[in-house]
Amino acid sequence: MTGFIPEEKISEIKNASDLVDIISESVALKKTGRNYLGLCPFHSEKTPSFSVSPEKQIFYCFGCGAGGNVFGFVMKKDGISFPEAISALSRRYGIELPTRRLSSEQKKKISEREHLFEINRLASEFYSKTLKDRLAGHSAREYLAGRKISRETIERFKIGFAPDNWSSLSNFFFKKRIPQRLAEISGLIIARKSKSGFYDRFRNRILFPILDAGNQIVGFGGRVIDNSMPKYMNSPESPLYNKRRSLYGLQQAKISCREYETVFIVEGYFDLLTLHQHGVQHSVATLGTAVSSEHVRILKGLVGKSGRIILVFDSDEAGIKAAERCIDVFDKEYVNAQILILPEGYDPDSYLLEFGADSFLKLCAEKVMGIMTFLMDSAIKKHGLSMEGKIRILSDLQKPLASLSDKTDRTVYVKEVSEKIGIDESALLEKIRRVTRSQFREVEKDQGRPLIPQRENRLERQVITMMLQFPVIIPEIVKRQLIEKINDKNLKAIGHAVIDSQRNGDIKVSEIMIKFEDSEIQALISDLAFQENIWDVEGCLRCIKQFENSCDHRRARLREKIEAAEKENNSELVTKLQQEMQQLLNVARNK
Ligand code: CTP
Ligand code: MN
Repeated sequence: MTGFIPEEKISEIKNASDLVDIISESVALKKTGRNYLGLCPFHSEKTPSFSVSPEKQIFYCFGCGAGGNVFGFVMKKDGISFPEAISALSRRYGIELPTRRLSSEQKKKISEREHLFEINRLASEFYSKTLKDRLAGHSAREYLAGRKISRETIERFKIGFAPDNWSSLSNFFFKKRIPQRLAEISGLIIARKSKSGFYDRFRNRILFPILDAGNQIVGFGGRVIDNSMPKYMNSPESPLYNKRRSLYGLQQAKISCREYETVFIVEGYFDLLTLHQHGVQHSVATLGTAVSSEHVRILKGLVGKSGRIILVFDSDEAGIKAAERCIDVFDKEYVNAQILILPEGYDPDSYLLEFGADSFLKLCAEKVMGIMTFLMDSAIKKHGLSMEGKIRILSDLQKPLASLSDKTDRTVYVKEVSEKIGIDESALLEKIRRVTRSQFREVEKDQGRPLIPQRENRLERQVITMMLQFPVIIPEIVKRQLIEKINDKNLKAIGHAVIDSQRNGDIKVSEIMIKFEDSEIQALISDLAFQENIWDVEGCLRCIKQFENSCDHRRARLREKIEAAEKENNSELVTKLQQEMQQLLNVARNK
């Protein structure tokens, strides 16, 4: 399938990796019978339809039809190519890959990302060293101490410092013989406009490495240690860094998020660090951006279906703005997000430093609210209940209410608002409906599951399904040459692959998948292998008979068609149909 990594190697990597382990890192899975079930990371859903089979080492989503083995999962989740998935997993399990056999094009693609990771890793080491340097890191250490960041936190988050100099990192890269083109793509150095050469992006800043799901550095955030501007600066978007996907502190938060089935989302680097340092490790930070649907999916995977996602803000205003901006994101992902507003003048960092973690958690227990309730209360607080106030409240709430796609949720809130401000419920509903019709049409139809196309080739599918689920029948299928009779190109290819890879009447589904590069075929294999069937020999033979009959039927129909075409003197069609017939007969004769 790959042509450049030997199949044994791919099998070795596949056998070393455990699909349930790997998926569990990003999806909360519950054991149900022989399989595990969770919320699909590849589409929005409320009820879990994403299944993982530990025995077969494959996954399949009954909602959106995504499926595959461990490679397919990693590729889809991280948006990477097959070779990249191989290389990521091999690194993870310490399996060495023969690199010589990569084609130059493939080599280039893998190596660019790999090099960028390497560059970030080297830069991070350089920044860490600088922070520890007696002279160069002195002011930065003072600053961090002033903000009560402990040495353990510095280590745990690999915090560093970029020296107050235009070319420290550029020179370091030069010494390490790092290609300037790549260093520039990483965003860490910038080409000078007037002269030749490069200068460092981050200077005289505390640096926070930002990690991806594989624990590799995708970018950096940097804060000045004096009053210069801008206060914060992040790596630019790059082949590695995408702020919609990145959450600061996620790697360090994972275990706690799963344990507490709760995650706090804060805005700032220091907020996050202080929370973790105070033991509230189920916290992550967005990086100067609104909460995105990618963020929500990642977090939903960690805290699970009934888990809690709590947005923490330092003022009503900030909270309202953010809540309005992301209420539909949470709604689309079927997550009931909550909001916690800290007392006037505090952000999580300053609140924890002054009152401690217990007080923070107590505040949370008392003050946390659903986003919609929060918006309602804020609007009432802001506008008051005069006639004019009520009109303003309605106009503030109209859009957020309309963006709720779940009709029951919406009805509940509409009722609540109309009771709170004393207006007629149906009038409010009508107002919302108008917004819904004009602006949120797609939200309405977005409900429910994406449809999987209806299958016509039921019998052909059944033959392959029984081979995958009841391999003892494979010799019978070989004997009767059923695969040759299969019309569907993909099913036929799968059938051949199953026969090729069976040993003593036993198969490994995830192994068969390796033979296919096409993710559609991988998903198809998962789909078939996951069907709930109980096979016995008799049932299989019955199904085989049916299939053969249908083939006979096809032959009879073909014969009729040929006759009709002959009558019409359509010689072109006759030739074509006769060729088709020849194929069918060849199969029969070889029997
Ligand atoms: N931020 C950013 N770019 C800026 C300002 C802010 O990316 N120019 C992001 C950073 O992630 C920052 C967060 O928004 O941590 C919150 O910013 P702000 O409230 O201004 O700062 P604090 O986190 O309170 O920063 P500090 O306590 O260090 O002053
Ligand atoms: Mn702050």
